[in-house]
Amino acid sequence: MLVGIDIIENGRFARVLARRPRLAERVFTRREREYCLSKRAPARHYAARFAAKEAVGKALGTGVISWKEIEVVNSGSGRPQVSVSGATAEVARRAGAGPLELSLSHSDSVSVAIVVAKSGNLNM
Ligand SMILES: CC(C)(COP(=O)(O)OP(=O)(O)OC[C@H]1O[C@@H](n2cnc3c(N)ncnc32)[C@H](O)[C@@H]1OP(=O)(O)O)[C@@H](O)C(=O)NCCC(=O)NCCS
Repeated sequence: MLVGIDIIENGRFARVLARRPRLAERVFTRREREYCLSKRAPARHYAARFAAKEAVGKALGTGVISWKEIEVVNSGSGRPQVSVSGATAEVARRAGAGPLELSLSHSDSVSVAIVVAKSGNLNM
């Protein structure tokens, strides 16, 4: 089983985004940005997605290779789903990872993400 978890302080993340206006575009896909900006408090949703990308990097054991190769999209019910592409998908394939499962949560102060996947490789 592959597993990764990450936690981000929302206030700190909001300040980083405010200081570096291009960061959101560099780290988040258009769909992710549109989702976060549609919310009352975008920073916590951005922070949760940043945590999700870090959690995928941990689950795969490589860290984040390319931010936008890891995308979080919510289904109609609101359930978050994560997909990988490019070099990240290749790493997942080599790790024998099955579909990546994601759960997110946020409070006023922090956002957390956990990612799990079955692995076909016994030594992972
Ligand atoms: C889904 C639900 C449990 C979220 O709980 P919450 O305490 O309000 O909020 P949290 O901060 O813990 O979690 C928020 C995250 O839950 C996730 N989420 C939302 N709907 C979800 C769903 N149907 N299933 C799984 N995860 C969901 C989202 O990722 C959301 O973060 P995001 O908007 O940044 O993507 C709550 O909105 C709820 O009870 N909804 C109605 C019932 C429902 O759909 N339940 C399904 C899960 S038990």
